[in-house]
Amino acid sequence: MNIAILGFGTIGSGVYEIVNQIQAEELKDCKVTKILDLPQNKDKLDIIVCDINDITEDESIDLVVETMGGIHPAYEFIQNCLQHKKHVVTANKAVVAAHMSDFLKSAKENGVQFRFEASTGGGIPWLASIQKAKRIDEISSFYGIFNGTTNYILDSMNTLNEEFETALKKAQQLGYAEANPSADIDGYDVQNKVTISAALAFDSKIDMKDFPCFSMANITYEDIQYLKSHHQMIKYIGQAIKKENMYEAFVMPMVFASNSLEANIPSNFNIVTLNGNTIGELKFYGQGAGKLPTANAIVEDILDIKNQISYGKVSLDKKLSYCNTLLKEKYL
Ligand code: HSE
Repeated sequence: MNIAILGFGTIGSGVYEIVNQIQAEELKDCKVTKILDLPQNKDKLDIIVCDINDITEDESIDLVVETMGGIHPAYEFIQNCLQHKKHVVTANKAVVAAHMSDFLKSAKENGVQFRFEASTGGGIPWLASIQKAKRIDEISSFYGIFNGTTNYILDSMNTLNEEFETALKKAQQLGYAEANPSADIDGYDVQNKVTISAALAFDSKIDMKDFPCFSMANITYEDIQYLKSHHQMIKYIGQAIKKENMYEAFVMPMVFASNSLEANIPSNFNIVTLNGNTIGELKFYGQGAGKLPTANAIVEDILDIKNQISYGKVSLDKKLSYCNTLLKEKYL
């Protein structure tokens, strides 16, 4: 399987490293043959190209990994690759949350696959688990810590007594944070992830503009210390609940008891909980951000495409309306 990577930043270079350097039997016939990057980086590697047409027009390329981030030109590039009958795997939650149904439609029309496990939950096989559970179960709700950067910040403020700004800078240095940290601390990153998860869990096209997203940037060191003295801890949560043909979702800071699982999840980790009518409660825990965990989730998608493994049909046909009218009227 010949692979092209769009974007050679933290995640793109992680995919390149795993595919080219890990000696796994499964990866033996996978090869990165082209990487799309900026002209100033052309000399870094001899497989770097600067024109998307060098990839879409190359018939030897079977699969394209998109790790550029943002909506444009990622949207156009993904559509272009699908229309040229190349499978596409992406980690880009913004473009998936906004255009999931367009991509799934194009992939179907062109007989290829579009996968996005790495867009939500980093290295945790979260979206695959939703799809697997849904083959026999009805998912009634999910909630959790979907953002490693904010969890790192809250954890550092709580355990290392650090100020917000210091902790944010460290998260950026460690490569967890988004290019624009507002996406992390104002919740848009989690809003994208809740939108993607809810669409898969509830079989419906979810519009993120429907549900409120409250920033965590106003949480102070004093708030954290006050809660600590009351055996509580604040965590930044995304949640969605389905009620017949309606749903409720939000992103907001929430208080947990100090001895809860959520309160004890360290630094850049995520923990997400799924509730199904027959499976009951399931919790998923792991590294939700960072180069290799996220790249690993991309490579898992590549192998599932190569081995034609599917976790069930993705359908976004159900019409759900947002039901928490009080929240909606007050905050949107
Ligand atoms: N900025 C994101 C986070 C990266 O901190 O979780 C992974 O989506």
